[in-house]
Amino acid sequence: MEIRLRNLRRNYGELHAVDDVSLDIPSNTVYGIIGRSGAGKSTLVRLVSMLEKPDNGEVYYDDKRVDDLSRDELIQERRKIGMIFQNFNLFSSRNAAENIAYPMEICHMDKAYIRQRTEELLELVGLAGRGNAAISTLSGGQKQRVAIARALAVKPAILFCDEATSALDPQTTRSILALIKEIQKKMNLTVVMITHQMEVVRDACDRVAVLDSGHIVEEGAVSDIFSAPKSAVTKDFLSSLTTVQESVVRWSKEGGHYTLRFRGSKTDEPIISTVSRSTGAIFNIRAAGVQSVEDEELGVMITDIGPDPQTAAAAVAMLRENGVTVEEEA
Ligand SMILES: Nc1ncnc2c1ncn2[C@@H]1O[C@H](COP(=O)(O)OP(=O)(O)OP(=O)(O)O)[C@@H](O)[C@H]1O
Ligand SMILES: [Mg+2]
Repeated sequence: MEIRLRNLRRNYGELHAVDDVSLDIPSNTVYGIIGRSGAGKSTLVRLVSMLEKPDNGEVYYDDKRVDDLSRDELIQERRKIGMIFQNFNLFSSRNAAENIAYPMEICHMDKAYIRQRTEELLELVGLAGRGNAAISTLSGGQKQRVAIARALAVKPAILFCDEATSALDPQTTRSILALIKEIQKKMNLTVVMITHQMEVVRDACDRVAVLDSGHIVEEGAVSDIFSAPKSAVTKDFLSSLTTVQESVVRWSKEGGHYTLRFRGSKTDEPIISTVSRSTGAIFNIRAAGVQSVEDEELGVMITDIGPDPQTAAAAVAMLRENGVTVEEEA
């Protein structure tokens, strides 16, 4: 199901938590919304998932407007949505299977069907045979798997994930993201992934919108945003990634005035030597690496360029002419 947001606004007193947001979230994709703490991500999700009404603007699921529904219609439309959260929100008094069964019980589904569907879902999330496990005995990753199964129980068309991996270690995060991607394909879901982690966007999302102070500051395909970020906020998110990213090796703590980003085939070309030779620039490389984004290789290099500012400027200009994105530290 496609989601369209038009001029959404939500104020808390003087604060514009969501400020004129318009977005098209295509069906059958994993769509990331990234922003710093307080950017308005959770508020936006509450508006899109009909938990809260906007002060202004419209929300459409396919062609149906859903922000102004009556109570009964709302209950009907909300069946199309599953949600998972950072803290899992499971019932500790119920075991894994009973948690998964809960939304189906609320819908008064047939007992035999519930039992069969619960088994199916346990299998889907990699917890076959663990239905009787008490929630307190499960790891964080397993708890999130139960939460995913519960969210999918009544076959929604949209899955909202609000910081779903923020409480998990990197390895578990990767396994949960892989599961979400797999389920997205299997069930043709529209997944909306709210996060403050660029790794999550890189490893799971097809498209991303960057939210800052209630505004969308950048939107596009993940590989485009990674190879040529436009807004300062996006560049900030990417630089936090390059320092923690295991594939980027930094052998000098000092320096690194320029960040170069190469895309696809450019990662194989001897572009640095070419530029160095023709401009006389000296590159002092501080960190470099390659990361995979949506099956495309993206190179990152953090470097100083000498011997003087004029030569550096000429080198930067030539790099840009050759399709390399160059960011200069302020
Ligand atoms: N119910 C509320 N009443 C008043 N202010 C609110 C309410 N909910 C959110 N806010 C404010 O709106 C802004 C956006 O909050 P929101 O929770 O949407 O941010 P977020 O991007 O999800 O942040 P985080 O990454 O910390 O979860 C914040 O300044 C927050 O304090
Ligand atoms: Mg939040």
